[in-house]
Amino acid sequence: MTETSGLEDVVAADSGICTVEGEKGVLSYRGFDIHVLAERSTFEEVCFLLWDGRLPRADELAALTAEIGRGRVLPERALEWIDKAGRALSPMDALRTIVSALPETDPDAAAMEPAANRRKAVRLTGQLASIVAGLHRVREGRPFVPADPGRTHADDFLRMLGGETARAAAVRAFDVALILHADHELNASTFAARVTAATLANIHAAMTSAIGTLGGPLHGGANERVMEMLFAIGTLDRVDDDLRARLARKERIMGFGHRVYRTEDPRATHLRAMSREVAESYGETRWYDMSRRIEQIVNAEKKLNANVDFYSASLYHLLGIPRQLFTPIFAVSRVAGWTAHVLEQYAHNRLIRPRAEYTGPQYPQEYVEIGKR
Ligand code: CMC
Repeated sequence: MTETSGLEDVVAADSGICTVEGEKGVLSYRGFDIHVLAERSTFEEVCFLLWDGRLPRADELAALTAEIGRGRVLPERALEWIDKAGRALSPMDALRTIVSALPETDPDAAAMEPAANRRKAVRLTGQLASIVAGLHRVREGRPFVPADPGRTHADDFLRMLGGETARAAAVRAFDVALILHADHELNASTFAARVTAATLANIHAAMTSAIGTLGGPLHGGANERVMEMLFAIGTLDRVDDDLRARLARKERIMGFGHRVYRTEDPRATHLRAMSREVAESYGETRWYDMSRRIEQIVNAEKKLNANVDFYSASLYHLLGIPRQLFTPIFAVSRVAGWTAHVLEQYAHNRLIRPRAEYTGPQYPQEYVEIGKR
């Protein structure tokens, strides 16, 4: 392995969007602490902050909220794709496939000017929510719920998913989850998006790379596996034995550990609190209680902290979201960060093309004709 295996601690881009201070457990978007944003902001405001580098005025926020809302109204072709892909593919595969086809429906598809790319960023942010909600409806055999552009993103997403207006507490919890997942510096999927954009491929191609990268279990796919683990364990009294057996088998416990944080992931702090609050308000604390016990054991035995994916699992489950949608929902939020990074990459572009340490057979090898091998 090279010293830079996994590109650990390698600085691969200049970026003014987001920073993670792993030793201190600090995450900030454009200099704003994530705790302040989680407590006081909204997803739409965070989108403006990520894309434009500052907080919006009230009129700017209203305009952006409406523009993202219009983005949620899907073109007819996309509805056909949701119907087909929703039946044939997993939600994550379907989402990636549909996003890769969206240029066919996009009025700015061929345009690469900054204003056109910004319009596509906003549109994609709206579209991803409706696509994920639509895929869920198809899988459930229930009719598609069209977007209501007058609502906020979190409110409308939960309504499109469940078919009725969600409780105010659920909408706020989901809005905060969207804020917390919106960006995270050069995580694997954002890096993939930037690598794609740096070839001057279009923003849809960059989003397709990002969605494909997010799906892996070491990245955004971890949240689905956390819920699988909670289901497999089933009850609080089984947690200790089950966890110790997993650790004895040297299994990776999903939702723990991080490449950058050496302290608690600040996003996990909020998700833990929200998971507890929603569990108590719904009178169903089983998944939260199990999660808390798992966390105590993994902290004690492996000295590993929960990451963003751990408590989002029990929270989303309580909000009525099925496990297979957890990673697509991560994309519904992270598209804001991905597109901000792509716009930044286009603005100061240079092809991203690193080198490899060669470890193959020595040069020159003798070419032996096929009949003589
Ligand atoms: N459970 C058990 N052991 C672990 C875990 C875990 N979750 N995470 C790391 N380790 C161990 C690992 O086995 C290795 O031990 P050893 O040195 O004895 O072989 C050591 O810690 C270092 O692991 P690594 O894979 O070299 O560390 P990394 O910086 O490459 O890994 C990680 C970071 C997130 C991939 C890893 O912690 C992991 O696999 N976590 C579980 C999956 C997960 O929750 N992913 C979500 C990440 S955060 C949000 C996101 O991106 O979606």
